[in-house]
Parts: sequence; C-alpha cells; structure tokens
Amino acid sequence: MTSTSGLIERKRNGGRLSSEEIQLLIGGYMSDDVPEYQIAAWLMAVYFRGLMLDETLALTDALIASGDRLDLSSLGRRVVDKHSTGGVGDKVSLVLGPLVAACGAVFGKMSGRSLGHTGGTVDKMESIAGFKTEIEPDHFLSQLRRVGVCIAGQTVNLAPADGCLYALRDVTATIESNALTAASIMSKKIAAGAQAVVLDVKVGRGAFFKNRGQAHGVAHLMREIGAARGLKVAPVMTAMDQPLGCAVGNSLEVLEAVKTLRGKGPADLVTVVAELAANLLSLSDLGWDINKARLEARRMIDGGLALEKFREWIEAQGGDASFIDNPQALEAAPVRLPVRAGSTGYVGDLDALAIGEAALALGAGRLRREDKIDHAAGIILGAKIGDFVEQDQELAVIHCRSRAAGEAVAARVQSAFAVDGRQAAPRPLILE
Ligand code: URA
Repeated sequence: MTSTSGLIERKRNGGRLSSEEIQLLIGGYMSDDVPEYQIAAWLMAVYFRGLMLDETLALTDALIASGDRLDLSSLGRRVVDKHSTGGVGDKVSLVLGPLVAACGAVFGKMSGRSLGHTGGTVDKMESIAGFKTEIEPDHFLSQLRRVGVCIAGQTVNLAPADGCLYALRDVTATIESNALTAASIMSKKIAAGAQAVVLDVKVGRGAFFKNRGQAHGVAHLMREIGAARGLKVAPVMTAMDQPLGCAVGNSLEVLEAVKTLRGKGPADLVTVVAELAANLLSLSDLGWDINKARLEARRMIDGGLALEKFREWIEAQGGDASFIDNPQALEAAPVRLPVRAGSTGYVGDLDALAIGEAALALGAGRLRREDKIDHAAGIILGAKIGDFVEQDQELAVIHCRSRAAGEAVAARVQSAFAVDGRQAAPRPLILE
C-alpha cells in the first residue's frame, strides 16, 4: 500500500488517486491517523494540480461518509432545496421556501449561520421570537409532510470532515480550488437528503466568487457531481456587486422578505426570487415546465397564498408570526442614523463588500463562530446603482445600538456609494 507521503507525492506530480486512496486520506484525517500537516500538503498539491472528476466524486463521497446522511425518501415526494454561495442582503430563501411550498412543492433546507460579511438564513430566522432552528430529523420530515416547507440549522452531523477541511483550507491558502469547493458544497447538499437543488452561484465583489469564469467552472462541476449521484442540480449565476434588495441585517431582511411576499419587494430581489422559483419548481415533482412554473409562482404572490404559507411555516417552527401584520413586533434598533449624499448625480457603483463589512461591524454578523449577533442592527439602502440622488439626500439609514456605533461605520457606508455625473448602463442580474 502506498504511504501517505507517496499519495501526496503522486498528486504533487500531477498523478491521480483512486477512490480508496482518497477515502483513506479523509478517513485517516478524521480518525487522527493522518496528521493535519500531511492533509495540508495534499490540499496544496490539489490546489495546483486539480482533481479529475472521479477523484472529485470520491472526495465528495468521503466527506459525506464522515457523518450522517438524512433519508427523506419516506415522504414519497421529491424534496427540493436551494443553496446560495453567500452574499450581502441575500434573504432569497425566506421568500423562496414558502413560495414554492405554496405552489405545492416540498422545500426542505439545512441552513448555515452568517460568517464574515455574508449573512446566514438561520440568524435571520432567529430574529423572530420563538422561531426554532434546532429541528430533529423526525420533526423535519413531519413538518415537510404537513406544511411543505422547513428550514433548519444543522442538528445532525452532516459532512463533518468538510468543516475540518474547510478550516484547514482557510489557513493554508487553498480555498480557491474548483474541485475542493464543488465537493465541499455538494457533500453537504447530498448528506442533507435533497433530491433536487437550485444553486444560486453569486458572482462579484460581495460574493465568494469574484469572477464569472471561476463561478462557471464550479457550477459546471457541481452539476456533474449531482448527475453522478442522482441529484438534479440547476446552477443559476447571479450578480453580487451591490447588495440584494435594500435591507442588510437580520430582522430588517425578514421584514423585506415579508414585503416581497406581499408583492412589494425591491426589483432586484423579485427578479432573483422569480428566476430561482421557476428553476426550482421545474425540478420538483409537480411536472411543470419553466414557463408554467414562472406563472404559478407569480399567481401565489399576487393571490396572497405565498404570504399565508410563510405565516404557516413560521408558526410551525414555533415563531410568533404577529410581525407579519405588525412589523413593530420584531426587535428594532434604538438608534437610526442617516447617511447622506455628498454630491448630486447617479449612483454609479455600490460596493456590496463595504456594506457587508459595515453591517458586520454593527453586530449584524459574526467574525468568529462563537460571536453573538445583534438581530436588530443593519443598514437600509435608500438608493441603488442607476438611481439619481441629490446632494444631502439619504443614501442609507444605519440601524444601530448607539450613535457611536453608527458613526463608526457611517463614512464606510457613504464611500460604498460612488455618485457621479453619468448614468451607468444597467448591469445584468441573472448572469447565466
Ligand atoms: N462554500 C462551501 O460550503 N465550501 C467551499 O469550499 C466554498 C464555499
């Protein structure tokens, strides 16, 4: 049998590892039989040499095998799921879940918490008093059967090796590998039991993927992994240069999701939700083509049924749904600080990363996993790219605990907006 250093050497020289060898590496890492420094060296070899498709599949399988796997087959329905590679102001799941469930599809999702400048669905949902995200698998299944939508935090041990490997990639400069990224994301989706998934692959300054080429490569690979493992995958590439919608911050985003379910959401959020809903519904077991899916999703919003499903879902997970009719029922930040335009002109740019970092500094996100979140903190944008603003007009309102906390980020928020004389050409939101 080849030694671990022999496996590293083979990959370093551009060779190929068998499924058994990859399983030995990952299994050995988890059981402490292979030291972390050898896995780090192997990751760097993979970073430079890449993985063939069969090696990527073997890595995906090894990550899945490191933990539990949810079996949702007893539902007798195709469970659809959505994954976003993360962005700023991304509250799409909060609208999409009840929307596709109102159409009759079954939407089950294990979600993460926010980390760094990107938000997490679980933190957003926990802005709602009483809402439970720790859901055991039996409850997950029964809620899907009864309500058609459930979004839970990870209570079961899904692909734990991915968590360890990702942390190691983070400190060894090996994050940017298409094969490692695709295996990481797909292992969690497959372990969570979904049978069809729409991947919202975000591209731009505020996203994990900064350029389209890289996003495209990973999206293609994820589709291939899905095809090989019986999971229907539809990647949709969407722009994340500016935040999505106008609200950034947990309870502010929940309120914007409600507005969107009432048919009054911001145009960019509505466009992304419509595109993802159409893709998700056409992958579901309803047998709809994409045009019918698009029409039905629209009908559910216009007729109020998507909002009713949202209420049913919140109550099913123990949440107090009164904020739907009375927004004051959600905790609000005590201080609001306006940020004004320094000149008159068009908003030519709005930096999603800068806004995400400002929200993070206000406490809306966390830098380390153990950090506490301030659910009420965040930023409401009053203008987006292409809008005309007068000098002194409100560009944004900072929602914060204290005036000092708001003033500490005000300059960063203001400089996230580039205001100039010419109106920029509209940028596409759905890239592919
Ligand atoms: N998101 C993940 O879950 N894994 C990666 O490797 C990159 C982004």
